[in-house]
Order: sequence, then structure tokens, then C-alpha cells
Amino acid sequence: VGVAAVVTAAGSGSRLGLAVPKALARVGDAPLVVHAVRAVQASGAVDHVVVTVPVQHRDAFAEVLAPLDVVCVVGGPTRQASVAAGLAAVPADARVVLVHDAARALTPPEVVARVVGAVLDGHPAVVPVVPVTDSVVSVVGEVRPVDRTTLRVSQTPQGFDRDALARAHRAAAARAATEGEAATDDVSLCAAIGIPVSVVDGHLDALKITLPVDLVVAESLLAARATVPSEAPGGRA
Ligand code: C5P
Repeated sequence: VGVAAVVTAAGSGSRLGLAVPKALARVGDAPLVVHAVRAVQASGAVDHVVVTVPVQHRDAFAEVLAPLDVVCVVGGPTRQASVAAGLAAVPADARVVLVHDAARALTPPEVVARVVGAVLDGHPAVVPVVPVTDSVVSVVGEVRPVDRTTLRVSQTPQGFDRDALARAHRAAAARAATEGEAATDDVSLCAAIGIPVSVVDGHLDALKITLPVDLVVAESLLAARATVPSEAPGGRA
């Protein structure tokens, strides 16, 4: 069975406050998008990688990705639109498709392999999750505490039976153009049309690099990996 990954890197990353798109921000020896693609390929579980890139910066992405075996496609106005564009470029022989945020650049390869394994075991939509460590309140209407033990934080890569993911995106296509209406991830699109969603263990290192502080955390994680090559499973050793 062919396995493909769509790595979404077409966002502006304005919350990072950098002049370059977020996925080109460097941590350690390489831009975020390069770390993300390397981890997907290092899993040994993925045959093809498609990267969605911002149209204004397509040449810069092509340059940093040139040493890696990937196909670049121009993304859309929202993450959902970018995923749809990436999915359209996935080779026909791929029956399993992962969708992964370049912003989750330090996702361990074993998480990628775990997600692919769950899809190959017959789960049509798979999301890696981690526990919620903060206390949480709902603020719609009356402010009410929510029991965090019932919640998990969703990460990527999310993994899919290709046909299920394609159906979910077709069903939601009308929402894709508008930030605020578009989906922020892909298992939510599957759940919306009744496709069952399964969870596997994610990893704290798969944090989404969004704010300037996250770059500091990412630099520290990489530095720790360089000095402690094998860390304890499931944690940030
Ligand atoms: O903006 P946010 O951090 O939620 O974006 C999540 C991921 O989706 C990032 O890796 C970003 O590059 C990607 N994205 C995209 N196309 C967009 C917006 C975001 O590929 N239009």
C-alpha cells in the first residue's frame, strides 16, 4: 500500500513576528519545513511527500527542499484549502494519506509510524493526542469549568484512508476559502460526515510552533537531542 504525506507549509506565520513565512524560520541547522519533512521520511513509513507552499515564496521553498525528495504545490488561502491542494497532488497509488503541519517540525518519527500503523490496521481517520495539562473553562454563555480528563490535545500527522479524506474534503469544500469557517484540522472534517476517528499517543515534542516562545522551546529540544541522543519514550527526557 502506498503511503503519502501532505506537509502543510503555506501559512504566513504572522504570529511569530518574522519577515519570512513560519515554515522557513530556522531552528538548529534547518528551516522548520525541512525538519518536518526529514522526520516524516525518517519514519520509514511514508513513500511520497507533498509540501504545500505559499505562492509568494515558492522559489525559496523549492531551494530549501531541493535536497529532499518532495513535490511542492502552491497552497490556498486557508489550511483546509492547502490540504485540498496537496491531496490533489498525491500519487494515485497512495491509499493512505497523512496530513502534517510543518509547524510541528520536531514530531518524532515514531509518531509518524504509529499513525500510519493505525490506518493500515483499518482505522480510517487517526489523530495523535496528548493530555491537557492546564485546567480549562468554557466561555460560551455562562463560564463553566470543563473536566480536562475528558479532553485531549490534537496533533499531527493525522492519518487517513485516502478515500475517506477525499470525501471529507469534498463535503466541506464550500468552507475552504474563508478563514473562520475553514477547518483547522482534518479529523474534524471526517467526524463531520460520520467517519469514525481513532486516537494514538502523540508526543510533547510535536508541539505546534506558533509564537516566538515556541521557537525558544524548539531550539532547546534540538540542543537536548544533540547531547542526549536517545530520550525516554513519551516525554521530553
Ligand atoms: O496557522 P497555523 O499554525 O494554524 O497553520 C498550521 C499549518 O498549516 C502550518 O504548518 C501552516 O504553514 C499551514 N497552512 C497552510 N496554508 C494556509 C495556512 C496554514 O498550509 N493557508
